[in-house]
Amino acid sequence: GTVVLAYSGGLDTSCILLWLIEQGYIVIAYMANIGQEDDFETAREKALKIGASKVVIDDLRVQFVKDFIWSAVSAGLVYESRYLLGTSLARPCISQGLVKVAREERAQFISHGATGKGNDQVRFELSCYALWPQVKVLAPWRTEHFTERFQGRQDLIQYAASHGVPVPVTLEKPWSMDANLMHISYESGVLEDPAELAPDGIFQMTVDPKNAPDKPCKLQINFEHGIPVSIKNLTEVGPVNTDPLKMFILLNELGGKHGVGRIDIVENRFIGLKSRGVYETPGGTILHAAHTDLETFCLDREVLRVKTFLRDKMADYVYNGFWFSPECEFVRESIALSQRHVTGWVQVQLYKGSVQVLARHSPIALYNQSLVSMDQQGDFQPEDATGFINIHAIRLREYQRFKMHLEGG
Ligand code: ARG
Ligand code: SIN
Repeated sequence: GTVVLAYSGGLDTSCILLWLIEQGYIVIAYMANIGQEDDFETAREKALKIGASKVVIDDLRVQFVKDFIWSAVSAGLVYESRYLLGTSLARPCISQGLVKVAREERAQFISHGATGKGNDQVRFELSCYALWPQVKVLAPWRTEHFTERFQGRQDLIQYAASHGVPVPVTLEKPWSMDANLMHISYESGVLEDPAELAPDGIFQMTVDPKNAPDKPCKLQINFEHGIPVSIKNLTEVGPVNTDPLKMFILLNELGGKHGVGRIDIVENRFIGLKSRGVYETPGGTILHAAHTDLETFCLDREVLRVKTFLRDKMADYVYNGFWFSPECEFVRESIALSQRHVTGWVQVQLYKGSVQVLARHSPIALYNQSLVSMDQQGDFQPEDATGFINIHAIRLREYQRFKMHLEGG
């Protein structure tokens, strides 16, 4: 049979490629370009040398920004109050590409190098099954024949070397990384003890906030229907950016330069384990702050409450691998409806690791300056507030009476 393998060019997926060939499969190596800074051509040569029948390099960057990152920004997705879901969003995007290629090539199998303890296996496989119900998935890290043979990195290195597969001379970094346009995540290895500080120099997209420039950077971000449509740098006047991919790359650069978007957390994996993760999400962090501000400005209070509930549901669906599910489709469309009037601009300042909102404007906001003003009456009767407070006080007075009664008796 033919397998399409999600290939990275690294040690694990190179060994998996070789092993699948040894098992008698014809293997197509699939590499999605979702903005990670890999050397795709070197990886292509490596896969062909190992014996891949074909290598597909698929540029999914625009799709990743427009269909996944924008969706997350307008929904305001955050997992467990902190994680902006960079890896979780990339998996369904890559799966779409995998399935497309597998169908074109009439392959029956899809394979990946995710481990049996993680979230990624769940995300890849649920996405593939949802998009292509008949597909068969080969997960070597959950296959006895493979795991018995490869019990640690040393086994992989030996296997690769003995088959003429180039193993990087410089020892690989003692942690696992996952990079894309939205973020880089760091886990495992020396990061496994949550009480130990992450090593200096681990970060690749952002500078340490204390080394960031003393001069802040001001930006204006325009949104239409909750989606970023243009960015203007107010500090260094240049052309206005409107291309989604270029806009996001620009935000990553500026955020990175000012040390924005680093977090170090322990999170709950879907599979039931807790894991320590270190992340840098510069552009995503800026957009999240700006969008949250504009949305609160534009939305009706009660719509905002319902939307916040849906946002939290959607964050779990995405983290857990259910992007292509009826429930996620439903919340995505509901949230898109909530964003109809989230249009306007937000000005933010990046400074030594922080994103500070400075001002916002919307042509259609519910905000009514004369109604809320301290300097004029507007269409508002202050006397009405007396009754409003008295009615609300009924319950609080009753509660106090009740507590005093309990204490007394
Ligand atoms: N913990 C994050 C998540 O579940 C990042 C996972 C990183 N994946 C990886 N293969 N290194 O989304
Ligand atoms: C892995 O286990 O392959 C990476 C971590 C994760 O998927 O959560």
